[in-house]
Amino acid sequence: MASTLKSVQKSQYIHQFKDKEEVSSSFIIKYSALGMGKNGKPFLNLVLMDSSGEIEARIWEDAARHSGHAVRDAIVLVHGRVQSYQGRLQVVVNGLEVLREDQVVLADYLPKARVDSDALYGVLLEKVATMQDPHYRALAEAVLKDDAEIAGLLKRAPAAKAMHHAYPGGLLEHIVSITRVLDFLGVHYAAQQGERVNRDLLFLGGFFHDIAKIWELSFEKTTDYTLEGKLVGHLVMGVELIDRKIRWLESQPGRLPAPFPEHKKLLVKHLVLAHHGKLEYGSPVMPQTLEALIVHYIDDLDSKVNQIGEFIAQDAAPGDWTLLNKHHGRYFYKGGS
Ligand SMILES: [Fe+2]
Ligand SMILES: [Fe+2]
Repeated sequence: MASTLKSVQKSQYIHQFKDKEEVSSSFIIKYSALGMGKNGKPFLNLVLMDSSGEIEARIWEDAARHSGHAVRDAIVLVHGRVQSYQGRLQVVVNGLEVLREDQVVLADYLPKARVDSDALYGVLLEKVATMQDPHYRALAEAVLKDDAEIAGLLKRAPAAKAMHHAYPGGLLEHIVSITRVLDFLGVHYAAQQGERVNRDLLFLGGFFHDIAKIWELSFEKTTDYTLEGKLVGHLVMGVELIDRKIRWLESQPGRLPAPFPEHKKLLVKHLVLAHHGKLEYGSPVMPQTLEALIVHYIDDLDSKVNQIGEFIAQDAAPGDWTLLNKHHGRYFYKGGS
C-alpha cells in the first residue's frame, strides 16, 4: 500500500542559519534531555543535526510532553526562530512534528563521509604486509584482513561521539593517520634505540588502540555509546578482541609458526590498555614500554590536531581569534601564517 504521507523536502540547512532567522525545516535529533529552568519549569534541550552541521535548540513550552517523542534519532519538522545566545546560535522551537523515515532522504540529515574509506583501508593493509614478525603480522591479518565484519564497521565508524574525528570514516582516518606517523617514528627511533623500539608493535598499537570503538559506539544514524561501550569500554574490549583472535589463530593449522608467545601477547595488550596514558584518563596501566609511550603520545597528538582544527574551521567569531575553547581553556589564533 502506498504511503499517504507526503515526502518532505529539506529546505534550510544549519550552516546557513543567521540570527533571528525563521526556521521551518526538518532535522534529525542528535541529543535530547529535559532541563529545569530557573523558574522551576522544565524545558527541553535538543541538539538538531543535518548533513551541514548541528545546532542547539530549546523547547520552553510543553517540554515534558515533547520529551516523549523528540528523542535521539527521531526526524522532526521544526518551526521556530534562530537566536544568538552567549555568542552561539540556537533555535527556539515553537512547534515540532515527528516525521517518518520514509518521508525523507536520510542522507540529508547525516554527516557526509569525508574520506575514501576503501582507499584508506588499502593503506592499512599495505602497512600490514610490511610487518616482519610472523606472530604480530598474523594477528594484524586476522583482525584487519580476514574479518569482514570488522572491515565493514571500520570503514563507517566515527572515532568519537563529539571530541575528534566524529564523522563516518573518522576512526579509520585516525588509525591510518597515526599509523603513518608511527611508520616514520619506527624507523627514526629504531636508528637511535635499536631493538628497544619494534616497528611491528608500533603498528599494532596504531591499528588496535581504538579498534573496539566499532562496538563501543553505535553509529547507524547519530552516534552514541552502546551498552557494552558504557559498561566495558574500548580498552578492555580491544584486549578481548586480541585474546579472541590469538585463540582463533592457534586453532588454524599453518597460520602461526609456533604458539603465540605469552610475552608478545602481553606486549600487544599493553599497547591498548596504556594508550590513554594515565589512570585518570581511563587507562588501567601507564605506558611501560617505549612502543606504548610513543603510541600514547601520537594518539593524543592526532586527536588534538583534528579536534582543534575542527574547532577553528567551525568558529564563527569575527577577527583573528576564535571564541574561548572551554575544553582546552584558551583562544586559538586563526589569522593565518
Ligand atoms: Fe582510546
Ligand atoms: Fe585514538
